[in-house]
Amino acid sequence: MRVISVANHKGGVGKTSLAVHLATGFSRQFKTLLIDLDAQGNATKWLAGSQPATGIAESLLQEDFPLALLAGKTLSIAPASRGLTLLDTVLPTRPGGQLALRRLLGRLEGGFEVVVIDCPPSIGQVVVNALAASTDVIVPVLPSMLALEGVKLLEETRQAVNTNLQGKAHMLGFALFATDKRESVGKQVRGALAKNFGHHVFQAEIRRSTSAVYLPVKGKTAWEPGADVSGAKDYAELFNEITAALAARRQ
Ligand SMILES: Nc1ncnc2c1ncn2[C@@H]1O[C@H](COP(=O)(O)OP(=O)(O)O)[C@@H](O)[C@H]1O
Ligand SMILES: [Mg+2]
Repeated sequence: MRVISVANHKGGVGKTSLAVHLATGFSRQFKTLLIDLDAQGNATKWLAGSQPATGIAESLLQEDFPLALLAGKTLSIAPASRGLTLLDTVLPTRPGGQLALRRLLGRLEGGFEVVVIDCPPSIGQVVVNALAASTDVIVPVLPSMLALEGVKLLEETRQAVNTNLQGKAHMLGFALFATDKRESVGKQVRGALAKNFGHHVFQAEIRRSTSAVYLPVKGKTAWEPGADVSGAKDYAELFNEITAALAARRQ
């Protein structure tokens, strides 16, 4: 089972957009689960229309609480619930609280082949849980030099989780989000990311797009014909690069 966290310390950088497009993309080929770990529930509302009262938080806090999945044919969603706001204070008081999600995935039934995790914009117990349960991490970044700060803390946390919690979260790469090819800052950010962190920066970029902004309220993805023309092309290219990177790592 591949478990891919889409994470960044900052908000508004494209985590939810990328997680939703990755999960729907993978679900065409694999039995896929999208876990929404952001209390705001943006991914849940995007794909399921509304947010149920209980969801992933209750299953992390009470290990015998059954994980309620909103299930489609090949894509299931572990919905965000309000209780996620409690996790940062409650989980540290529990023995092994940092590994609650890893344990939950260990006992998950349903034969999922790919799990995509939409992370909240913070570095706390929830993201530590996500990283500790992940095989791979993808970090969307805005084309701004300020982007590097948000990445640094996440990268330090990933390394600490791998070292101290026997994690195996591999940094698959950075994906530039909401770019404009006419602006040179995207190129500078690419160079700075590669230089500072030594990780792959995906060639494909998600270009800035006005129609993309309406996708969550319409409950659509860019994959649907005409929904977001540049997005459809960009997400397809990025998705191909990501699947190639995942396949290369398996060998
Ligand atoms: N291609 C795009 N170009 C510009 N803005 C976009 C694009 N796709 C999504 N957005 C907008 O960017 C904002 C942040 O995206 P989101 O995926 O919610 O980021 P995060 O989960 O990191 O907070 C949202 O308001 C969304 O509507
Ligand atoms: Mg989000």
